[in-house]
Amino acid sequence: MIILIGNQKGGAGKSTLTLLLANYLSLVKKHKVTVIDLDYQQSIAQKYEKAKVLENEEPYEVIAAGLEDFPDMKEVFTQNKKQLFLLDLPGKLDDDGLIPVFQSAGLVICPFAYDELSFESTILFAVVLKKINPDVPLVFVPNRVKANVKYETQSDVDEQLKKFGVISPVIADRIDLQRISTFETPLSIFPVVRPVLECIYNNHIHQKNE
Ligand SMILES: Nc1ncnc2c1ncn2[C@@H]1O[C@H](COP(=O)(O)OP(=O)(O)OP(=O)(O)O)[C@@H](O)[C@H]1O
Ligand SMILES: [Mg+2]
Repeated sequence: MIILIGNQKGGAGKSTLTLLLANYLSLVKKHKVTVIDLDYQQSIAQKYEKAKVLENEEPYEVIAAGLEDFPDMKEVFTQNKKQLFLLDLPGKLDDDGLIPVFQSAGLVICPFAYDELSFESTILFAVVLKKINPDVPLVFVPNRVKANVKYETQSDVDEQLKKFGVISPVIADRIDLQRISTFETPLSIFPVVRPVLECIYNNHIHQKNE
């Protein structure tokens, strides 16, 4: 199954959520996971190379690739039906290389923030995705939500996003989330992210992947 983590908006939490999911699906749910870093900055791939020096056996592989590599890689992905391929997308939509990526997706996860700047990018991402792959399940993940802040736009944003997909529980804004690495989610983070990861897993991955 090919799972995309994307949003037009830079810094929305794509790479963070990709690692949280990869760690959870491989270490907790014992799935075979491969992370494909399609981000131009390849932040996950860099972290992975660093972590590899310290670890003996990696629970999953991280591959840095360009969008132009995708059509060839897809052949491998579709042969490994039980394996979960997590694709960290670049924060841009102006590349035709994204079309086959969107077409092949079995699930799309879109982290976003409740602010006006983020909203337009998030909607644009959803519109383009659904134009290319109308039936793919889309899960919006509210990220960096501050407990003591009331977001004036929250219900309006939720209402608009629900036209395209479902909204998961929120991820709080937490400094310790910035320490997540490949193969390790700090224990202090589990209570913060478990509802989100369980929601995604139980509703969208578990049955489909059995
Ligand atoms: N819930 C959170 N709480 C605190 N910091 C967070 C949270 N989510 C993400 N961050 C931080 O925000 C920054 C951007 O997150 P991340 O790199 O995951 O976004 P991205 O969408 O992959 O960005 P880019 O578009 O640059 O690839 C990182 O420094 C990350 O550690
Ligand atoms: Mg990133």
